[in-house]
Amino acid sequence: MKTLHKLLPNISKHFSDLKCRFRFRFLLLFILPISFLLFFFSFSTTINNPFHYLNNFNLSLFDLKSRLPNTKTNTRSFTVTELKRSRIAVCLVGGARRFELTGPSIVKRVLEEYPNADLFVNSPFDSKAYKFSVLKSVPRIVAVRIFKPVELRESDAAVTLLTSNNSPNGIQGLLQYFNLVEGCLTMIKSYQQQNNFTYNWIVRTRVDGYWSSPLQPELFIPGHYVVPSGSSYGGLNDRFGIGDFNTSVVALSRLSMLPELDSAGLHELNSESAFQAQLKLRNVSYVTKRVPFCIVSDRTYDFPPGRFGVPVASLTSKGPLSGVKCRPCMSVFSSRWSEAVVNGLDRGWSWTESKNGTLKLCDGRGEWERGWEGVFDSVAGVELAEAREKVSGLLFDECVKDFEYMKQRAAIWDVPPVAEVCEPVR
Ligand SMILES: *[C@@H]1O[C@H](CO)[C@@H](O)[C@H](O)[C@H]1NC(C)=O
Ligand SMILES: *[C@@H]1O[C@H](CO)[C@@H](O)[C@H](O)[C@H]1NC(C)=O
Ligand SMILES: *[C@@H]1O[C@H](CO)[C@@H](O)[C@H](O)[C@H]1NC(C)=O
Ligand SMILES: *[C@@H]1O[C@H](CO)[C@@H](O)[C@H](O)[C@H]1NC(C)=O
Ligand SMILES: *[C@@H]1O[C@H](CO)[C@@H](O)[C@H](O)[C@H]1NC(C)=O
Repeated sequence: MKTLHKLLPNISKHFSDLKCRFRFRFLLLFILPISFLLFFFSFSTTINNPFHYLNNFNLSLFDLKSRLPNTKTNTRSFTVTELKRSRIAVCLVGGARRFELTGPSIVKRVLEEYPNADLFVNSPFDSKAYKFSVLKSVPRIVAVRIFKPVELRESDAAVTLLTSNNSPNGIQGLLQYFNLVEGCLTMIKSYQQQNNFTYNWIVRTRVDGYWSSPLQPELFIPGHYVVPSGSSYGGLNDRFGIGDFNTSVVALSRLSMLPELDSAGLHELNSESAFQAQLKLRNVSYVTKRVPFCIVSDRTYDFPPGRFGVPVASLTSKGPLSGVKCRPCMSVFSSRWSEAVVNGLDRGWSWTESKNGTLKLCDGRGEWERGWEGVFDSVAGVELAEAREKVSGLLFDECVKDFEYMKQRAAIWDVPPVAEVCEPVR
């Protein structure tokens, strides 16, 4: 128990904090959809505290940390010139929900920033997939896969290994997410094999990420996997990652490493703790850094967030937001008040850095406020505002033209018929 205490000094407090435990349970009842409630009742004996799974966490796993190379030293990053000569794969995963806001920022601040980077897209097909027409102008589009999701088998091992707490679609939702991430790695590997080379770097990022400033070259650190700091939910923030090919193989093998996590005797992992366990089991050292993006979300959250609540930042925040959930809102709350609320969040859970007016909170209880488009346009600037408008006014013929153009350029094209993708704007 000694090691555990050292690494997670606050842990004993979590277990004794009955009042908070009760509040959390109460909160879950309100924020989770009905389908999840069924799950909740069947597992209600295990849901007490979001840190519950740590009870079962094999302590020897924590010992690993002391055997890893010290991540504070020896983290020489690549120079910009070196980077621009290296082979980079950018793996973009997720549904296109608000891609009219996030896509243009990814194109400008990630892809155009590293024009040597090859883009790989892996996305479940839905009525918003037409929004990927934003990608027609990216420097190097190598692979696009838009697939019709199928239900994944929930093995007994997966059910005991994973927890559906805080996952809006339960264990199936987690498996779908893992499959999506690993699918990108599969595409990258097969392209490498066809062309007989290996990427120096893989940048894994999400379709729903809004980038407020360019992806920094300091985030490319040989031999270490780099993830955003904060929002760690009892593990490691898994909303973004950069690593060389070998470390990325471990980080992105989210589905195929589940049996290995199971054999290690782990239980009730959420996405973040499973991610951390993956890296630890394979001795991959990681570094956390602040990264200038946030996850644009339509989900609603309790406000102000309690100790285990989820903060929703305003897109107008100065940043870097390091992958916090966000939306365009006219924040009426001061940075100082926001900072106080964020510092009331549990450090090992949803807490994130908010010093110096980095972060302003939105009231995330309802839908996006009226006039959010204007809020977005004023913070994003003319170029991104125009791109947003272009997608909202996209015509069927333009959509088809954009997709046909991408299809011509991509080496791997695994997408439903273009007319079907563009059908929602017909
Ligand atoms: C932790 O794992 C080790 C080796 O895999 C095993 O010997 C030990 O019994 C496990 N401990 C617990 C508490 O499960
Ligand atoms: C792949 O590349 C290596 C080294 O660049 C070369 O030795 C090998 O012959 C190549 N293989 C094929 C099948 O082109
Ligand atoms: C990556 O892994 C391969 C095979 O395990 C190894 O041969 C190679 O040296 C590793 N490369 C780096 C940069 O660590
Ligand atoms: C990780 O490191 C430990 C201790 O050095 C070693 O026993 C273990 O085999 C390593 N695991 C892997 C997958 O390299
Ligand atoms: C806050 O600002 C001070 C002074 O400009 C700076 O030294 C410090 O690093 C900043 N902190 C964060 C978290 O940005």
